[in-house]
Amino acid sequence: MSFPVTRMRRLRSSPALRGLVRETDLRACQLVAPIFVSEASAGGEPIEAMPGVRRLSVAGAVDEARELAALGVPAVLLFGIPAEKDPEGSGAYDSDGVVQLALRAIAQAVPELLLMTDVCLCEYTDHGHCGVLGERAGARAGVTVDNDATLELLARIAVSHAEAGADIVAPSDMMDGRVGAIRRALDEDGFSQTPILAYSAKFASAFYGPFREAAGSAPAFGDRRGYQMDPANGAEALREALLDVQEGADMVMVKPALAYGDLIAAVKSACSLPVAAYNVSGEYAMVKAAAAAGYLDERETVLEILTSLRRAGADIVITYHAKEAARWLSETAR
Ligand code: PBG
Repeated sequence: MSFPVTRMRRLRSSPALRGLVRETDLRACQLVAPIFVSEASAGGEPIEAMPGVRRLSVAGAVDEARELAALGVPAVLLFGIPAEKDPEGSGAYDSDGVVQLALRAIAQAVPELLLMTDVCLCEYTDHGHCGVLGERAGARAGVTVDNDATLELLARIAVSHAEAGADIVAPSDMMDGRVGAIRRALDEDGFSQTPILAYSAKFASAFYGPFREAAGSAPAFGDRRGYQMDPANGAEALREALLDVQEGADMVMVKPALAYGDLIAAVKSACSLPVAAYNVSGEYAMVKAAAAAGYLDERETVLEILTSLRRAGADIVITYHAKEAARWLSETAR
């Protein structure tokens, strides 16, 4: 039946009625806040392209964690920025590394908060790549990121995070076989209960620009296209997610989020596990810049974006707007 019998506007006539038929909810308990912890940082250093986000000391990270927990945000995702970088990224698995110190401190001060860690080498290597370098075999010689040598290090990083108190480890390097390697290492070391959130469909994206400024992790040569995905590929994203599930991932991720809603939906329907969407640094920066210029209403824009990621199929949304969004959500029912 169509017009004039069917009138779509009948169900939009009041806030109560709109609330009754709303299909998607957005709650603080679905959000994860990334935190940058810097070994060199005394106070909080601003990050130019990410207004409102700072590189924090361990003590600063504890305060931030406390504030987030008080606002009902259940989880943080920790990124470490070491004082020294080297070719192997050894700061990443140092038991007194900056993430490990932050984990112990936050676990003690804010025990109810879930501690997730980004497992990768790019913030720790002096060349800025997500793994160790090696020579490509055969006639086409040259430097490449050595997949299998990197797996060992990723497993060490994950175990050292779990030892320091990580509740969930999240590998973001895009090496083949990392989820399986990390699962085996965790199980062997007594962490069979530690879940893996796999950055499964992680694209080689221009939207990571502000993050790389924050972490000083831009590759010193070349780019990440030899391991991160081509933004043109969707079927391949499903293969990545399904492989990670086979290797033992407990949750999978699509990253970035805004330009990849089709894949959030496809991954959610292809695997029945929880799906996370990472609303990345460049997506945050765009909204902040437009809001600062007076071109967009920040609150309305952010809540619309986060709701749309939930509608696309994300169970979990990782966002630098987590604190503000949680505050806005607690202020008023929309
Ligand atoms: C580490 C990592 C990156 C991001 C998350 N984990 C950077 C990259 O891959 O270059 C980006 C997050 C963001 O842009 O907010 N590999």
